Amino acid sequence: MNSQTGTPDHADTRVGGGSEIDHLLEETRRFPPSPEFAANAVAGAELYERAQRDREGFWADQARELLHWHKPFTQVLDWSMPPFAKWYADGELNVAYNCLDRHVEAGHGDRVALLWEGEPGDDRRITYAELTDEVKRLANVLTDLGIGPGDRVAIYLPMIPETVAAMLAVARLGAIHSVIFGGFSADSLRSRIDDAGAKLVITADGGWRKGKVSPLKPAVDQALGERNGLGVQETVEHVLVVRRGGNEVDWVEGRDIWYHDVVPQASAEHEAQPFEAENPLFILYTSGTTGKPKGILHTSGGYLTQAQFTHRNVFDLRPESDVYWCTADVGWITGHSYVVYGPLANGATQVLYEGTPEFPEPGRWWDVIEKYGVTIFYTAPTAIRGFMKQGRQIPQARDLSSLRVLGSVGEPINPEAWMWFREVVGAGACPIVDTWWQTETGAIMISALPGVTETKPGSAQVPVPGVSIDVVGEDGQHVGSGNGGLLVITEPWPSMLRGIWGDPERFRETYWEKFESQGYYFAGDGARLDEDGDIWLLGRVDDVMNVSGHRLSTAEIESALVAHEATAEAAVVGAADETTGQAVVAFVILKESYLRQHGPEGLAQQLRTWVGEQIGPIARPRDVYIVGELPKTRSGKIMRRLLRDVAEGREVGDTTTLADTAVMSVISAQVR
Ligand code: PRX
Repeated sequence: MNSQTGTPDHADTRVGGGSEIDHLLEETRRFPPSPEFAANAVAGAELYERAQRDREGFWADQARELLHWHKPFTQVLDWSMPPFAKWYADGELNVAYNCLDRHVEAGHGDRVALLWEGEPGDDRRITYAELTDEVKRLANVLTDLGIGPGDRVAIYLPMIPETVAAMLAVARLGAIHSVIFGGFSADSLRSRIDDAGAKLVITADGGWRKGKVSPLKPAVDQALGERNGLGVQETVEHVLVVRRGGNEVDWVEGRDIWYHDVVPQASAEHEAQPFEAENPLFILYTSGTTGKPKGILHTSGGYLTQAQFTHRNVFDLRPESDVYWCTADVGWITGHSYVVYGPLANGATQVLYEGTPEFPEPGRWWDVIEKYGVTIFYTAPTAIRGFMKQGRQIPQARDLSSLRVLGSVGEPINPEAWMWFREVVGAGACPIVDTWWQTETGAIMISALPGVTETKPGSAQVPVPGVSIDVVGEDGQHVGSGNGGLLVITEPWPSMLRGIWGDPERFRETYWEKFESQGYYFAGDGARLDEDGDIWLLGRVDDVMNVSGHRLSTAEIESALVAHEATAEAAVVGAADETTGQAVVAFVILKESYLRQHGPEGLAQQLRTWVGEQIGPIARPRDVYIVGELPKTRSGKIMRRLLRDVAEGREVGDTTTLADTAVMSVISAQVR
């Protein structure tokens, strides 16, 4: 253990931007809410009191007040078989009905649900009535394609309205969606389709990215084609294709169907059926500490309750007047909970933007805020740090005065970036909520509440009402104010993952085994409690990296590297990076036989490209170093901590446990 932080030695206690913890602890700036904001805030301090008095009663109230139940529940939490929780188990609801029909029935059909902005500058305004109509038609089409309760549907789409409609249509039928980020490769797509046993894939010809059409359907064709070649049982029966990019695509007769050939023609009559609260809603794959991504499973009633509750209270949402914008892609959990389910369940009006922040020029996001009068803006520290580099004159050239609440998610936000966000984007007046949560938690778990909490730059601060969190040592004991340790969740919460698809043992092992006797959920993050008891997140303590707020596993990238014919062995680390928080750095040993024939020229670049093709461009290493050896302990375990020292240009730490203590000086020399 590291005595200063209380985290294990291999823990990466660096925060985004490379600042050190000591630096964080000197952070004394405090920003109380303005009296006007506090007086009108959606959330109040009484939420904490209510939850404190009776946690389950609190969540029962939220579920009843926020959602429409076709059949009311009588049980709140069933924790009789931990770690498998059931929330609201005897209740029945329809998730899509809660996101759509009920708003139309309440007279809000004309309210805009989506203010969609395409990257080339085309736009569409879609009301709740129109989105409901589209989802009903699509639900009828999916039914005709044989999709029913429990079936899995893979969604591989750009950020377009049809993506939201697709997720909701699947949910409406009680089927399970598995959204796969459009930046993932054919290989990644194939393994996710296989793991879930998807029956249908919904994709597009392509989407716009950085001024070009980035093709999607070819990856689906490749994924499905290859699998046929392997003789593995094909589960996919159809591919439904949205036309967006206008790029030419191959066509498999009988399998492929154009969206525009079937959806507009379908009936817009479709009655939403009730499903049990624990009916699975989606699977979302995320990186773990091994090479194989985990299919995180979420269900309906508890997930929607907490997504809606946090979206309303953490962002101070007023659905009738706010214009909300979350910049996350729907391929990630943030897009699921805070683009699709939370905002739509709340009847919010939101911006959906297809492209990248810098196209056609660096100020594009600020133009979007100005054009639509965005009031609530939720983004990631990596984006903020990127904007800081470009300079404040770019946002300052736009009118951002509509903004009133700012949010951050995905990685620790360093105080400098927090202050820049506050001063430059929020004109020194908007409350900032730094929200900590995970794919597994389904919804926000730690955050300030605007109008209630005095905020601190760099700290996520306090658990949301109804959530119980602690920072503990390896022994599971509370570390106390002023100390560091491991972040745990001490009580079940409504939007908690219900398991890993097809692998209950891995679920237990990954999250529950470490603190089994206490019954705590182990999040995999290091954290520190300050003198006020506020929580400061310090990054992952396992072999998971966080690059631009995206989770990547060292093991997954290592196995992609060794799958290349030139590679004998590989070790990957996450090194601190000014913009992306962490960056992927790979150390590779080449095969003698390969070297004899080809030599090492150009290989580092080739390997970077290779990883991009195998997993997706987000996983492409920033640096690939060709080395002669890797630092190993006597038992053969690679000491990544030492490689991280090299990658970050630091003096190499303690090498006494290495089998060969000379190896690090050789590696350092080779890298230099
Ligand atoms: O390390 C934490 C970091 O992101 C991890 C979860 O990644 P993912 O499942 O992809 O979900 C990201 C969006 C919810 C966490 O284990 N993380 C997320 N939010 C924060 C954060 N680290 C510090 N501060 C945050 N606000």
